[in-house]
Amino acid sequence: MLYKLLIVLHLLGSSVWIGGHIVLVLVVLPKAMRKRDPIRVRDFERGFAKVGLSALALQVFTGLWLTTYWGIDWRAVLVTPTPAAHLALSKLVLLAVVVVVGVHAERRVLPRLSAETLGVFAAHAWTVTLLSLLMLIAGAGIRTGGLF
Ligand code: HEM
Repeated sequence: MLYKLLIVLHLLGSSVWIGGHIVLVLVVLPKAMRKRDPIRVRDFERGFAKVGLSALALQVFTGLWLTTYWGIDWRAVLVTPTPAAHLALSKLVLLAVVVVVGVHAERRVLPRLSAETLGVFAAHAWTVTLLSLLMLIAGAGIRTGGLF
């Protein structure tokens, strides 16, 4: 029962985090770039920040908990070549990159966002979205016994 609840919460977090980023890169950013209007992006970010970060925190919390159901021993993860262990490790590496790119966007790019720097922000947003999609694919691979 707890396992099922963790899966549901993990998938809920995934839907919100990835769904929000897809709306950002496919709807909000193209419109903002066409109109050279950084305010649309700032407004979206202000609204999505809390929900998105809560969803990501839920992902990390439930994801780490779920690894215990797969018997993943983090101390031996590099020497125990199970697909689940390697995919879970890949997810953590991807997560670290997502956090670095996200924090850079939030702290360095967003505060000085202008019509000229919308492209720089778009590069950050696309990177986070694509890496998050890779985390989703890796997650599905854990359950289905590998990526291929
Ligand atoms: C943006 C972040 C993440 C996304 C989008 C994501 C997405 C997913 C998805 C879609 C699944 C498939 C669930 C299923 O087959 O029903 C999954 C499974 C899984 N994820 Fe994540 N995940 C993320 C972060 C993490 C993190 C940080 C960890 C920790 C290592 C993690 C560990 C797992 C595990 C162990 C499973 C297998 C669950 C199972 O089938 O029992 N995930 N993830």
